[in-house]
Amino acid sequence: MHILSSTTEMQRIALEYKRSGKRVGVVPTMGFLHDGHASLIRTAREECDVVITTIFVNPLQFAPTEDLSRYPRDLERDTALASEAGADVLFTPKAEEMYTPDFALNISIGGVTAPFEGEFRPTHFDGVATVVAKLFLLTQPDVAFFGQKDYQQCMVVQKLVRDLAFPLELRICPTMREKDGLAMSSRNVYLSPEDRINALVLHKALQEAKTLIERGERERSSIESLMKSILTSIPHLRIDYAAAADATTLAQPDTFATTQAIVLLLAVRLGSTRLIDNVVVVEFEV
Ligand code: PAJ
Repeated sequence: MHILSSTTEMQRIALEYKRSGKRVGVVPTMGFLHDGHASLIRTAREECDVVITTIFVNPLQFAPTEDLSRYPRDLERDTALASEAGADVLFTPKAEEMYTPDFALNISIGGVTAPFEGEFRPTHFDGVATVVAKLFLLTQPDVAFFGQKDYQQCMVVQKLVRDLAFPLELRICPTMREKDGLAMSSRNVYLSPEDRINALVLHKALQEAKTLIERGERERSSIESLMKSILTSIPHLRIDYAAAADATTLAQPDTFATTQAIVLLLAVRLGSTRLIDNVVVVEFEV
């Protein structure tokens, strides 16, 4: 596996791959890799000739009050994991090179960025859209791999690709979970042993709400109330949102149509750790 941090070098190599007709896949990450990231790299390995994994803890997507400085990092472990999962190139740019002091670009795509994460992290998706656009231009992918774990982020990237006409395909890959159902996340390492157990309530709330919908419930307030009542069984858990929305537009009608695909979205805080998870309900047995 080739490891490099120079942005000009990355783009030069990527353009060479492209000119020689290779199908290039990119997996953008912020590092501290786990099996969720590895699953994206493995899928890219199956579908592409060249797999580029990027590791960059992007300052633009963290608000001043958030966990940028304590975001977990372990490049040695990441290198082994990325290589084992099948990456050919590990691109680890430096913030100083990605964002020179005069860097003032901000890509604000609107629409799907407004609700949910957008409400609690108002500058977050501008930061994501800006870095993802730059990473696409540096790595020149034919296919880009993202995880459903960050559902709204997938919608943001989808809109970015459409609005700026990036010549690439997006692949959204399923959420990888621990055996007990907790969605894998680099931030899970922050959880105390007690909160690691409490965190299972997210998966429980999603599964029970999914069952409720599959049994025919279409009132948004009933679905959301069920999730909230399950989450509040953990006394010190704080809910940012526990919502049901249209899976393609994120609209929140009072009542969903019978055949409407619904996404259930959760964001909660346990201690100083913020966790998100989601599930899409598309098949109905009414
Ligand atoms: P990061 O949180 O490191 O995630 C990198 C990619 O891995 C994202 O596409 C994310 O959805 C996916 N991922 C995370 N946990 C997953 C899981 N349990 N199962 C499957 N996929 C999972 O998301 C980011 O970084 C950043 O915002 C980034 C897109 C790199 C831009 O900075």
